[in-house]
Amino acid sequence: MASTSFRTQLCATVDQTQIDSSVTLCGWADTRRDHGGVVFIDLRDHSGRVQVVVEPDQAAAFAAAEQVRYEYCLRITGQVRARPESQVNERLSTGRIEVVASEVEILNAAAPLPFMLDDNPSEEARLRYRYLDIRRPAMQQQLRIRSRLVSSIRRHLDELAFQDIETPILTKATPEGARDYLVPSRVHPGEFFALPQSPQLFKQLLMMAGMDRYYQIARCFRDEDLRADRQPEFTQLDMEMAFVREHDVQHLVEHLIREVFSAVINVELPDPFPRISYAEAMRRYGSDKPDLRIALELVDVAEHLKSTAFKVFAGPANDPGGRVAVLKLPDGAKLSRKYIDDLNPYVAKYGAKGLAWIRVDDISKGREGVTSTIAKYLEDDVLAAIFEATGAASGDLLLFGAGPYKTVSEFMGALRLKVAHDNGLVETGWRPLWVVDFPMFEYEPGDGRYYALHHPFTAPAVDDVAALRADPGNALSRAYDMVLNGNEIGGGSIRIHRPDMQAAVFDILGIGEDEAQAKFGFLLEALRYGAPPHGGIAFGIDRIAALMAGCDSIRDVIPFPKTASAQCLLTSAPSEVPEAQLMELSVRVAKRAES
Ligand code: AMO
Repeated sequence: MASTSFRTQLCATVDQTQIDSSVTLCGWADTRRDHGGVVFIDLRDHSGRVQVVVEPDQAAAFAAAEQVRYEYCLRITGQVRARPESQVNERLSTGRIEVVASEVEILNAAAPLPFMLDDNPSEEARLRYRYLDIRRPAMQQQLRIRSRLVSSIRRHLDELAFQDIETPILTKATPEGARDYLVPSRVHPGEFFALPQSPQLFKQLLMMAGMDRYYQIARCFRDEDLRADRQPEFTQLDMEMAFVREHDVQHLVEHLIREVFSAVINVELPDPFPRISYAEAMRRYGSDKPDLRIALELVDVAEHLKSTAFKVFAGPANDPGGRVAVLKLPDGAKLSRKYIDDLNPYVAKYGAKGLAWIRVDDISKGREGVTSTIAKYLEDDVLAAIFEATGAASGDLLLFGAGPYKTVSEFMGALRLKVAHDNGLVETGWRPLWVVDFPMFEYEPGDGRYYALHHPFTAPAVDDVAALRADPGNALSRAYDMVLNGNEIGGGSIRIHRPDMQAAVFDILGIGEDEAQAKFGFLLEALRYGAPPHGGIAFGIDRIAALMAGCDSIRDVIPFPKTASAQCLLTSAPSEVPEAQLMELSVRVAKRAES
């Protein structure tokens, strides 16, 4: 039997060189128009669109074309001809030709769609009918960028002798700071697997197993509050290397990221990426993932406020754990009073008690030249010192944050982003950087204990267990984050490879010996058999793909994402299961009272 292809080519590839030849195309009816007895169909596939003309002298094709409705799935055979000059559409790759149909085959009818693909459907409709949403050219493009990203990564890592190794999905809890998704075991009643929050411990074990260089495009599961850049199930480029220091890991992955951006979206990132310490990032930007496209920086003014009578400033200025910082908004004096007042509830969400401000109308007039809620409480010399420290000029708006260091940094950091976005102060372009020298631990006074800033397997900068124990609060870690345009796109560290240090870190974190054995006994044991020094990093593939595709939310580069309330609207997961299935798993549901 003669075999002919289902289609001869893609819609957008038909061109003038094919005039008079016959083509068979497949796709969807993007539009169908009846023009005085001639039917026009815009046939669309993932490559683009082509215009099909069906004339009445092709009786069977014409009859079929009359049946065609929006998004019908079609197979069309016809002859390519040049469009009349008046109908040429320069914006389409196929805009100079059309296909005169000899056969129109309806492969499948389509019910009226819940939304028009070129409309602006609600997020809910898009997720509920994701298979229709993905037919839209923008989504097609975004998923294709993601695919190119992953294949480019694989190509480069293959060249660098990284081994692509899978790690278990049904596993034991791996602490990355979120809640676990649990899977009940049928075979072991009352026992549960946890889905991995990351492959962290397995990749470390692979280094101990002598695999030298590991990577995986790994799915991770974290039950945490969701945001535009967080999903409960997301994908990492996870990497680990043996016999490395920070510089080796950073150098290699920085090169990788540069290559990948160049290959996938033709963007040349700087070489090298700048590096700043966590402390400096908090001081200058109020964030550990600063967006360097914004030139605004926080200015510390506590030293000028120690002896002011204005207690709101003097208090934190004299408190070693306090901070008084100013954000100067050049030209901000033109902002309305309402805009400035509305910043209050915004910073309140980040813990601010209030937001003081000074509008500098005419700097030459000193106190007389400002409008402010607080200037009257500030002495002349204090006011002058603030102007000097911030380099204030006529037309500027000064926004003040005062209080505990961490709170002030957080809300002033958030404010910096907000006013920059609201007032068009975000430059275009790509601004990657490394944030380094993170604190090893964070003390939570409410809980009376330390938490790991990265994860409990990150090595401290000090090598000596006694030195770490003596002053854990001031210890730095060997962790590093890669940040791009205000997004944390990757995080990693050099790991602890000695059992005594790992035990000490567990101890400082309040994980007692028994608990450490129960949760991480296998790791502590593995560390005893000649574990090599090792380190690595994991990148958020969803975040990188979203940045590359210019999307605000990672949902737009995930084919089937969850909603903000961690549901899948397409499949209605999660859902209840039959009683018998629960019985088999020895699980009984006790509904928690709404809190
Ligand atoms: P970390 O927890 O920093 O490190 O995660 C690494 C990167 O993964 C991305 N990411 C997320 N993306 C989408 N949704 C989420 N819920 C989410 N959480 C994290 C971020 C982040 O930078 N095991 C360590 C890595 C290591 O030490 O090697 C880890 O998972 O882009």
